Amino acid sequence: MKVLSVVGARPQFVKAFPVSEALGTHEHVLVHTGQHYDRELSDVFFEELPIPEPDVNLGVGSGTHAEQTGSMVAELDTVVARESPDVVLVYGDTNSTLAAALVGAKRDVRLAHVEAGLRSDNRAMPEEINRVLTDHCSDLLFAPSERAVETLAGEGVTEGVHEVGDVTYDALLAVRDRARDRSRVLDRLGHDDGEYILATVHRAANTEDEQRLAAIVEGLADAPLPVVFPAHPRTIAALKAADGIGDLPESVHLVDPVGYLDFVRLLDGAERVATDSGGVQKEAFYLDTPCVTMREETEWIETVEAGWNVLVGADAGAIRRNLGRRFAVTEKPQPYGDGNTAERIVRALDRTIEAAPVEDAVRG
Ligand code: UD1
Ligand code: UDP
Repeated sequence: MKVLSVVGARPQFVKAFPVSEALGTHEHVLVHTGQHYDRELSDVFFEELPIPEPDVNLGVGSGTHAEQTGSMVAELDTVVARESPDVVLVYGDTNSTLAAALVGAKRDVRLAHVEAGLRSDNRAMPEEINRVLTDHCSDLLFAPSERAVETLAGEGVTEGVHEVGDVTYDALLAVRDRARDRSRVLDRLGHDDGEYILATVHRAANTEDEQRLAAIVEGLADAPLPVVFPAHPRTIAALKAADGIGDLPESVHLVDPVGYLDFVRLLDGAERVATDSGGVQKEAFYLDTPCVTMREETEWIETVEAGWNVLVGADAGAIRRNLGRRFAVTEKPQPYGDGNTAERIVRALDRTIEAAPVEDAVRG
């Protein structure tokens, strides 16, 4: 079978690496849209993870949602027409995901979505639009949890749905020990295991709203331990625009984004993590690091139900309090599979394509 994967943003490089390994000898064309282009948001992942260099980089870069998504659609359409894959595989919920989904659907190529069925139920979040639209034009929907399957069923989507687990769990298990043995990030940044809080912020709702960003900075500044803060470039830009960098006390150690191995090491060694990331909430759960999520809702509600994650919004007091409190965690459930998600995805793709090759596929 011939699979064309579309990636473009940091978390998608992480999700694509176990899948690309599991694809083995199948033909795999990897397309990078260029949504992320800074070395620390893109190249570093290809350098340290066993993922092949992209076959194509569309170099689309930043812009408004319309400009970015529109350019991707136009460029991807040419690539998909030229490559004529059996399946277009998309990951997560970024503009790169939506653009590839539109191209797959319009070209009548089989479309498969990894991380299907997740919802924040907040339509003001750009990713929510991307998820809903992608799910509703996918032929194969790889759901990470039972709840995601139920959510899809609630929206009338039942055909082609496979509960496979979370592919980022595969990714994490593949690098966790290597990160513990090889990463020198704690020495480099001058922090000790268990004696710091890790923070990440990049969500549009937090970076584009000065009041929310100021409250987050205040909460982190009052944290009970030093804070290591590898900041996304849009967050640095927002802090500069709001003159917020000057407000960061010495206890908040602002650094550039780090590579995946170093990030996993930082998350593993952290006493707590404060984040608005989707991926980081789950990775924290897998690594037994309590998580304080600076949002009002989450797509990964099972981590909250299990007591490992708490939603605090952009409220300085709640951030500070929750970074300082004990988390009463009991036995840990395993809602997102067993770390063999990529293999399940490839088996399901293979079976579907064997059963109905592209030319015979009957499309809904
Ligand atoms: C995107 C995704 C988000 C995902 C995140 C992962 C969308 C709508 N958002 O958000 O779902 O969680 O990636 O990190 O697809 N920039 C740089 N260098 C880069 C890339 C971006 O400086 O390499 C700056 C630019 O000023 C750009 C801004 O960051 O305008 C936002 O980038 P963009 O890709 O639009 O969204 P992210 O915030 O990265
Ligand atoms: N990550 C990383 N370096 C960093 C911050 C995050 O490698 O400095 C990884 C992290 O381990 C996770 C992914 O990037 O796998 C999450 O990306 P992000 O938070 O940007 O996006 P989201 O998951 O919210 O879409």
